[in-house]
Amino acid sequence: MASVQSLHQGVPPALSAKVVESFAYLTVRDRFPTILTRVIDTIHRSKNKFFEEYGEEGVQAEKRAISFLSKLRNEMQTDKPVLALSDGLEDTDSWNQYLLRQQSLMGDQDSVSWFKSPWLYVECYMYRRIHEAIWLNPPICDFDAFNEGKTQSYFESQQAVIALCTYLQGLHRNIGELSESHLLEQFLKLLQVSLWGNKCDLSISAGQDNSQKANPIDSLADLRPFILVDDSNMVLSTLTSAQRQGESGQPSAGRVDIVLDNAGFELITDLVLAHFLVSSGLAREVRFHGKSIPWFVSDVTAHDFQWTIRQTLAANHKWMSKSGAQWQSFVREGVWSYHDHPFWTLPHEYCDMAADAPDLYATLQGADLIIFKGDLNYRKLVGDRDWEHTVPFDRALRGFGPAPLCSLRTLKANVQVGLQHGQGENLSVQEPGWMTSGKYAVVQFFSPHREQ
Ligand code: F6P
Ligand code: MG
Repeated sequence: MASVQSLHQGVPPALSAKVVESFAYLTVRDRFPTILTRVIDTIHRSKNKFFEEYGEEGVQAEKRAISFLSKLRNEMQTDKPVLALSDGLEDTDSWNQYLLRQQSLMGDQDSVSWFKSPWLYVECYMYRRIHEAIWLNPPICDFDAFNEGKTQSYFESQQAVIALCTYLQGLHRNIGELSESHLLEQFLKLLQVSLWGNKCDLSISAGQDNSQKANPIDSLADLRPFILVDDSNMVLSTLTSAQRQGESGQPSAGRVDIVLDNAGFELITDLVLAHFLVSSGLAREVRFHGKSIPWFVSDVTAHDFQWTIRQTLAANHKWMSKSGAQWQSFVREGVWSYHDHPFWTLPHEYCDMAADAPDLYATLQGADLIIFKGDLNYRKLVGDRDWEHTVPFDRALRGFGPAPLCSLRTLKANVQVGLQHGQGENLSVQEPGWMTSGKYAVVQFFSPHREQ
């Protein structure tokens, strides 16, 4: 395979590291075709629905989309060059410029192709091409081929959702009477629930069932040893100091932004954490950031966000439906809001955000804390590079830091920073798959205001 050198432009070599590519070939060859085949199958099975909605035009669109996706699968499996996008959407130019940038790094000898590209890039590119295939085929252009899996994962986690909503309502009823230490203890618990919620993504299982069956609160103590880095106390002190500023009259204090990852059970854990933040006074406002197109199988879109709240409200369980009703009021009153931006579905590393999406960067600067959920966000935070495990998290961020931020991530990809000397090496000896199994997790924090 051709060697792909460090991609980030303008970063001194000492602050950078080579992009992760070793895993790319294996996932492009094994997992990507499985995901594409499932998408093709879902579109095919929806033929009757398309006919009912759009008549013969819908059936023709289904055929064209399938032929586009079959061609894409063939390009991928036979290592064809990565092609420019042709759908004229608002992010098309950014994608095509990124391809040129990749090509210039490869030199003249080789073209950027599926096996000879950084893993992060081709993986994002595959999801963007799936979107292109559907978008270019009206009238089915709004179809979310991953919707079925996302809703199924929500329903399959029902018992765990009930357990969590019941726990939340117990806390909500007594929130005014909780001692400060009890309140903080509950925050740390719900932060961990949201952390482990990230085990439930569908892209790691290529769309197979990966829902939560057990009561998540009961599992926390057993999971504790698998948290490799735990900066939760720093997260908490950031929130409490923002809360104090709010009490002393600073009107904008107390905003938490959550950069969401997966729909289904993980989203419920994020909503429960956000509920606790606003009802305890640790935050005044929560802004959720989701994806504007279907992404990495299970990532949250605006539709998933609204659907999840409506579905929870409509549930035939007292505490679930009460939680759903409160979530809907938070949204109506503007205490919670949902946002998306095309940058979240570009292949760019987050250290590029200030230059490539300055409006999003400026928005994030208004937060007191940004929580980044999941593995893909982590890869983009640290640039999916072959870092030494002991490289500090702040260094791997390479200048990204619009506000204090925290990553809640279960490990599913070959990149991990901020470990103690020997920690990574020991794990590699004991458990060779520790970086990709989703069994381990990190809570990593960085503040641009803190003395480093
Ligand atoms: O491991 C497969 C994979 O698709 C990774 O490429 C990606 O980083 C991850 O799953 C997605 O996980 P998450 O939903 O936690 O971002
Ligand atoms: Mg995801």
